[in-house]
Amino acid sequence: MKNVPQTVLVTGGAGFIGSAVCRHLVASGKYRVVNLDKLTYAGNLTSLRDLDGNPNYVFRKADICDTDKVRKILADEAVDLVMHLAAESHVDRSIDGPMAFVTTNVVGTASLLQAVLDHWRSLGEEARKRFRFHHVSTDEVFGDLPFDSGVFTEDSPYKPSSPYSASKAASDHFVRAWHETYGLPVVLSNCSNNYGPYHFPEKLIPLVIANALDEQPLPVYGKGANIRDWLFVEDHARALEAVMTGGRIGESYNIGGRAERTNLEVVEAICALLDARRPRNGGRSHLDLITYVTDRPGHDRRYAIDPTKSEQELGWTPLETFETGLARTVDWYLANGWWWRPIREQRFDGTRQGLVAAK
Ligand code: NAD
Ligand code: TYD
Repeated sequence: MKNVPQTVLVTGGAGFIGSAVCRHLVASGKYRVVNLDKLTYAGNLTSLRDLDGNPNYVFRKADICDTDKVRKILADEAVDLVMHLAAESHVDRSIDGPMAFVTTNVVGTASLLQAVLDHWRSLGEEARKRFRFHHVSTDEVFGDLPFDSGVFTEDSPYKPSSPYSASKAASDHFVRAWHETYGLPVVLSNCSNNYGPYHFPEKLIPLVIANALDEQPLPVYGKGANIRDWLFVEDHARALEAVMTGGRIGESYNIGGRAERTNLEVVEAICALLDARRPRNGGRSHLDLITYVTDRPGHDRRYAIDPTKSEQELGWTPLETFETGLARTVDWYLANGWWWRPIREQRFDGTRQGLVAAK
């Protein structure tokens, strides 16, 4: 039997959640982490500079669509567990260019499953029993909830609205199919909206923080009434380790923070934190920067996760409330302009309007 640390291949480890997962798993001392990432616009190795030189961390540049290369990495690195996060992840980009989402999220996941299946079949009996393929997915696969009722459970029907959520839904189905058809030992998790350090500044929370600090408009889609259920990224990373190691094979687990907020409430909370920590010249509130802009097409009204199964079966609960997590996040962006300023300066201004203009 192989001694600890077990080797975990994390796909998409240079992204927002993936980098938090790499940092969490390495810090636990229980794993050797192989980060496999294509380094798209969303991948950033500076998010992992704390792990530079760590003997339990290695980066391998690869595209999950490249089955041969992934198969070789799985063998060369003697991978025991796979956690799959690599994806195109931004809904607004999926509206303007859906095919990249089909390629990576659907074809890429199926290509990765093929490589992983070959690897799993090549393992000895004990290693094959311990092996897991953990697919990391989103609550957006369940689609739109009314404002005032309903929550997503693991049994909720799939009803995706955007090209992003449709591509993630398809990937979930492929993962289950590789389990049912080929016996690959899989677990799945579907999580609500994450926020926290190293979040690419095109998503609502980092975009609003960065724009507020730069005295730019804070774009709120529609009336800001849409509701999301927010979870601090480090709590998600802890949950993912729990699912990977303790989840039952073939099962999925919903993960969420029991922290539903309207988008306007989120933006107002960020403004209040910034007013206290970095008051504007002239004494006006950051609230004055809020600008209502054209709504996103097909914008789901509300997402809400029931995390009871994860709490009861895995013993997982978040450590941060929305208030403590948001304060940590704002403080991180205030202290770490070295990370997010170059992204904004070199790429685009982060808004949906900017994305369209950059095309
Ligand atoms: P992200 O966009 O920040 O990171 C994605 C990473 O995947 C990047 O490092 C990118 O370079 C890499 N990647 C993209 N295409 C690739 C390919 N073809 N081959 C190899 N690597 C590739 O995304 P994120 O927000 O960290 O999300 C990670 C995962 O978690 C995704 O699968 C997403 O669907 C899921 N998820 C995200 C949230 C959220 O709120 N952000 C919530 C629930 C689930
Ligand atoms: P986002 O961070 O893009 O995550 P997702 O679409 O995966 O939920 O958006 C979160 C919410 O914020 C969503 O309801 C859309 C809204 N939003 C805005 O109001 N303005 C913005 O500039 C962005 C990027 C999002």
